[in-house]
Amino acid sequence: MKKMGLFGGTYDPIHQGHVSLALGLAEALSLDGVVLMPTFVPPHKIKESMAPAEHRLAMCRLVAAQHPVLQVSDLELAREGASFTVDTLEALCRTHPDTEWYLITGADMFTTLRTWHRFEDIARMAVLCTVPRAGTDTARLQAYAAALEAEGCRCYVHPCPVEDISSTEVRRRAAAGESLAGLVPPGVEEYIRRHGLYRDGAADTRTRDQQFIEIIRSRLGDYRFRHSLCVAQEARRLARLHGADPDKAYTAGILHDIMKDTDPNAQLQILEDFGILLDGLERQSPTLWHARSGEAFLRHILCIGDEDVLRAVRYHTTGRAGMTLLEQVLFVADFTSADRDYPDVDVMRRLADESLTAAIKYGIDYTIRDLLDRDRAVHPDTVAAYNEIVLSEANGGQANESK
Ligand SMILES: [Fe+2]
Ligand SMILES: [Fe+2]
Repeated sequence: MKKMGLFGGTYDPIHQGHVSLALGLAEALSLDGVVLMPTFVPPHKIKESMAPAEHRLAMCRLVAAQHPVLQVSDLELAREGASFTVDTLEALCRTHPDTEWYLITGADMFTTLRTWHRFEDIARMAVLCTVPRAGTDTARLQAYAAALEAEGCRCYVHPCPVEDISSTEVRRRAAAGESLAGLVPPGVEEYIRRHGLYRDGAADTRTRDQQFIEIIRSRLGDYRFRHSLCVAQEARRLARLHGADPDKAYTAGILHDIMKDTDPNAQLQILEDFGILLDGLERQSPTLWHARSGEAFLRHILCIGDEDVLRAVRYHTTGRAGMTLLEQVLFVADFTSADRDYPDVDVMRRLADESLTAAIKYGIDYTIRDLLDRDRAVHPDTVAAYNEIVLSEANGGQANESK
């Protein structure tokens, strides 16, 4: 029978304390491996300074690559919803039937174990392990473990304390540009700097966009990835031409299709997790989901707070009445990006340079005809956008914002 540790945490970022704890227990208990399991962070707990899930995962992988006994699982992140430890353990027991699991928790968490969801099942499936912090709480942990053992749980409290490192302190130092030497494993400091993590919004736009590009690279297929970069460039060009914010346009372009290649069921799950209701028409039109799930992902998982960018992503497929300039730019750029090659693309590009409104009207016209040809319903926001333009033209074109 294999013996494996399960060590969950936010890993924001993974630090030397985590590594010492995992390696210490692996050796003491002769574990075959320890699975680092970065946890999904529910939206109400996401702090502004938090690193996106992809980066927390990447830093764990970076560290695991240096220690053969460490492995990384994205099981909980891939669920993209809050996970209970008991569910994770059940999933692991199912996929690894010949393994004995050792649940590793930090000292603070260990003494709350009894309150965990379906604690009895957790205790049945895993040996409960912890390590005291230097100079503090060994006796308290041992007493708690003894009480659990009296109830039939299997526990292990490591005799050697582990150095106490605070993730908050690591993030504070990173934000202040101070050295992280000795606090984080090799490579992690450089990773944090390279990706501008924990900079409390001070990260310059270029670093942030680079980070977003890496994120979409991991979420999109080749075709959609290239399309996203083309839309970003076109959106920036159109923004400059028509007086919108070019930086925001570029960012919105990179991110607009972030969920497009995500399994529809996973998209529905995200919408459900964040309490987003689809109307009847939207429910039956999976091609519309990526705009809504994309907005939710950007807002709650990547912690993007820029409402202009979020709105542009949300309405990039349907449009709507009263679109902001940035929404218009993204909507049109999605039609005129360099990768597009439908028959009328040249007409659309010429219109886009002359007037965003004219281009939107042309684009919606094309969309509506296409939907009608295929017996599909037209989203009311699309109809409203179209009507607004047509009515405004009838009134002398006041809504024509450009030129
Ligand atoms: Fe899209
Ligand atoms: Fe697109």
